[in-house]
Amino acid sequence: MSTHPEPTTTTAVVDRHFAVGPVDPRLFGSFAEHLGRCIYGGLYEPGHPAADAKGYRQDVLEFIRELGVTMVRYPGGNFVSGYRWEDGVGPVQKRPRRRDLAWVSTETNHFGTDEFLDWCGIANVEPMLAVNLGTRGIEQAADFYEYVNHPGGTELSDRRAANGHPASYGVKLWCLGNEMDGPWQLGHKTAVEYGRLANEAAKAMFLPDRNDFRTPLVPPEFIVCGSSGQSMPTFGTWEREVLEHCYDKVSYLSLHSYANCRDGDVPAFLAHSHHMGAFIDGVVAICDGVKATKRSARTIHLSFDEWNVWYHSTSSDRNCDPWTEAPPLLEDVYNVADALVVGGCLITFLNRADRVKLGCLAQLVNVIGPIMTRTGGPAWRQTIFHPFALASRFGRGTALQVVQQGQTYDCAQVKGVPYVDLAVIAQDEGGVVVFALNRDLVHPRPLQLDLGSLGNLAVVEWLAIHEGDLGLTNTEAQPDRVVPRSRGGAVVEDGRRLRAELPPASWSVIRLG
Ligand code: AHR
Repeated sequence: MSTHPEPTTTTAVVDRHFAVGPVDPRLFGSFAEHLGRCIYGGLYEPGHPAADAKGYRQDVLEFIRELGVTMVRYPGGNFVSGYRWEDGVGPVQKRPRRRDLAWVSTETNHFGTDEFLDWCGIANVEPMLAVNLGTRGIEQAADFYEYVNHPGGTELSDRRAANGHPASYGVKLWCLGNEMDGPWQLGHKTAVEYGRLANEAAKAMFLPDRNDFRTPLVPPEFIVCGSSGQSMPTFGTWEREVLEHCYDKVSYLSLHSYANCRDGDVPAFLAHSHHMGAFIDGVVAICDGVKATKRSARTIHLSFDEWNVWYHSTSSDRNCDPWTEAPPLLEDVYNVADALVVGGCLITFLNRADRVKLGCLAQLVNVIGPIMTRTGGPAWRQTIFHPFALASRFGRGTALQVVQQGQTYDCAQVKGVPYVDLAVIAQDEGGVVVFALNRDLVHPRPLQLDLGSLGNLAVVEWLAIHEGDLGLTNTEAQPDRVVPRSRGGAVVEDGRRLRAELPPASWSVIRLG
């Protein structure tokens, strides 16, 4: 437990010549699973006053654009491990109703692959599709790929054309299953079983040597499942064994992590993003270990394709009626502390931009989402919407190495947690953006950041998420209670030394230009 000592100044140094790497815009992705009201009543609600003729809610789309989401993973999640993709294509009235065994709900299949890919075009986001490697296997994965990406002249690509989409969708990002290490997953596998299956599925989906000359499309990038969490007993050996079987076929390994405020221990909760950094570093080491043993020239990058805070809804979900359509599952209502954790995770990702290339805030609407709707009613922004939107808007460019000194605290799970976390981005247009989390619940924390050779800079704007009450939420009745607020008081001395006093329990974006 932290004792919050009298604060000393956190000092840090950056320089334009010391870069972590370019930030991949796809770091700011999200996730839409057939789960609860994410799709039905979230993205898609025919008959809603804000829905277009296709049933896509325009109010939700506007928020998604404001959120700055660049890529969306679909259709699961646990759902995908029992999903038959064929159920979700073709005439809607002929699509079967099925049991969704992952979430004990009824799936109408009114929304499927063609609707999702059409919606992605409208939302201007890149799709990331997942294939079912739980209850299904190589053949169905290859069929799904053929339906989506093959240019034409085959049974499945012609079926796509007959369904109104003659051109290949050219989907680049493909997840080879979901959380296959988890005993809860339909078709749960050992690392060896899964590693071999992933390798063979990727091979059947896309044959680089034989396909390249026939299709002008960019080749797909495969994401193989890492552990579903760092606390899994097989964590580490799972990654190594899986990669040993499919290293040459895949581009990314996935990581998943959800933060939970256990026993109301807020300092430990805020330490989640620090802990996540160690998780990433461990997975990078494993990937590079396999690379060395294989004498490979390829580097595997990371896809943090499920991350968020998830705990508020756990007990209410147990009372949800089984086998209903779009039940209100995982509807966490987020508070200020949750926004700080989400902001902290974004800082962690930016500081590892060289290896974490893809990210999916799980999920997008209603289901542990930054956007909330009432079915038949309005949509609003949750607290966690704001750090994500600011990071996506201002966190593009090159992440710089931050060399930092400052006080730390210990909590039950993690020792040596810095009170202040920083990420610094050199924007392509010449500006510099500083993201800062102050985990100290009591004290403002002075910050001094030496800007090295970044040029003669001045403060353009300081926006902070900081409220006296960490429990405040945004609701339908009060949708804008928690918003980023403009602050004064940050200065750049001599054009090259930023000084600011970070308010207690706050997340900031300080823009310099
Ligand atoms: O995002 C909710 C669920 O969390 C996903 O379906 C699953 O992959 C993970 O366990």
